Amino acid sequence: MKTVTVDASKKYDITIGYDILASVGERLSGKFGGCKITLVTDSRVDTLYSKTVIDSLSDNGFSVEKFVFPEGEKSKNKDVLFELLEFLAEKRMTRNDLLIALGGGVVGDMTGFAAACYLRGIRFVQIPTTLLACVDSSVGGKTGINLEHGKNLAGAFWQPEAVFCDLKTLDTLDEKIFSDGMAEVIKYGVIADRELFDTVKNGGLRNNAELLENVVARCVSIKRDIVNEDERENGVRKLLNFGHTVGHAVEKCSDFKVSHGSAVAVGMVIAARAAYKNGLSETDCSDEIIKALIGNGLPVSCDFSAEKLSAVALSDKKMSMGNVSFIVPEKIGKCKIVKIGSLELISFIGDGLE
Ligand SMILES: NC(=O)c1ccc[n+]([C@@H]2O[C@H](COP(=O)([O-])OP(=O)(O)OC[C@H]3O[C@@H](n4cnc5c(N)ncnc54)[C@H](O)[C@@H]3O)[C@@H](O)[C@H]2O)c1
Repeated sequence: MKTVTVDASKKYDITIGYDILASVGERLSGKFGGCKITLVTDSRVDTLYSKTVIDSLSDNGFSVEKFVFPEGEKSKNKDVLFELLEFLAEKRMTRNDLLIALGGGVVGDMTGFAAACYLRGIRFVQIPTTLLACVDSSVGGKTGINLEHGKNLAGAFWQPEAVFCDLKTLDTLDEKIFSDGMAEVIKYGVIADRELFDTVKNGGLRNNAELLENVVARCVSIKRDIVNEDERENGVRKLLNFGHTVGHAVEKCSDFKVSHGSAVAVGMVIAARAAYKNGLSETDCSDEIIKALIGNGLPVSCDFSAEKLSAVALSDKKMSMGNVSFIVPEKIGKCKIVKIGSLELISFIGDGLE
C-alpha cells in the first residue's frame, strides 16, 4: 500500500494498493461519519463493484443513494450532468454530504463537476477503476463534461477529499481499456521520467502486481508535484497535455469511437514527429514513443486529415490569442511548451501525420 499526498488548494491523500474497496466505509467513517452519500457510477462498473462499496459504507453507518448512467464517453454531457444534479436535489443532499465517483475518467469527471456545481460545491471522493483514472483523471481536480463543440469545454477545478485506487479492480478491465491507461503512463515517462518510460516501454505491466503499484504511485507523484506547483494550469501543468491537443481532435473527429487513451497515443506521435521536423526539438523521439505505444497495444496513427484535425483543434480550449499550445519532447523525460500559430497548424499537424 502506498500513499501520495496532494497539497494544493486542498490537502488530500491518494491511497494506492489492492483490495481497498471493502474498507472504503471504514476509511471514510472518521472524517465523514454521519453524512449521506450518493455513489455515482456507470452501468458497467455498477454491476462489478457498487455492491462491495455500498455494503462497506452501510456497515459503517452511512445512508447511501446510487446514481447510475450508461457507460462510455458519450454520457459525459450536459443531459446526464443535469439528471445527476436533479437527483441530488430530489434526495435532499446537503453541503455536509458527500459524493463518491466509482469508475473510470468519465464517472470521475462527471461526478467532480456535479460536486463543484451542486449547492455551489459539495465534497466528493474519487474511487478510480480504470488505469487511466488511477494515474491521471482522479488526481488534480480537473472536472468537466464535453459540449457539442468539443471535449471538456465546461468544467471546474474542484479537488476531491480523497482518492482510493484499488488496483484489484483493474483485473476486470478489457485489454484495450488497460492499454488506454498505458498511454497516460507513457506520457508521464516522456514528460518527466526516462526511467519510468524504460520500465514500461515493452508492455507486460498488467501481469506484475508489485510493479503496477509502483508505476501508478510514480505517475501520481509526478502529477502531484505538477499540481502542487500549478493547480490552475497557468504554466507547468500544461505539460500534462502532451498528446492531448491533437488527441482531443482525434476523439472528436471519430465521434468518440476512438477512446481517450488511444487518441492521446496518436496525438503524442504527431506532436513528437512534427516538433522534430519543425526544429522545435533537438532529438527525434517519435520512433521510441511509437515502439513503446505499440509495445503496449496502442495505435500510433489515424485516418483523419491534417485539415480536419486542425479545424477541430482550433475550437479546443488550449487555443489562446491566435495560438495553439503544443507540448513537445526535447528528449524522453523532458518536454516543453511551444506555441503554434493558427495559420501554421495544418502544416504542423500534416508534418506529424507522415
Ligand atoms: N480530469 C482529468 O484530469 C482527466 C485526465 C485524463 C482523462 N480524463 C478523461 O477521462 C475519460 C477517459 O477515462 P477512461 O479511459 O477511464 O474511460 P471510461 O470512464 O469511459 O471507462 C472506460 C470503460 O471501462 C469501463 N470500466 C471502468 N472500470 C472498469 C473495471 N474495473 N472493469 C471493467 N470495466 C471497467 C467503463 O464502464 C467504460 O466502459 C475521458 O473523458 C477523458 O477526457 C480526465
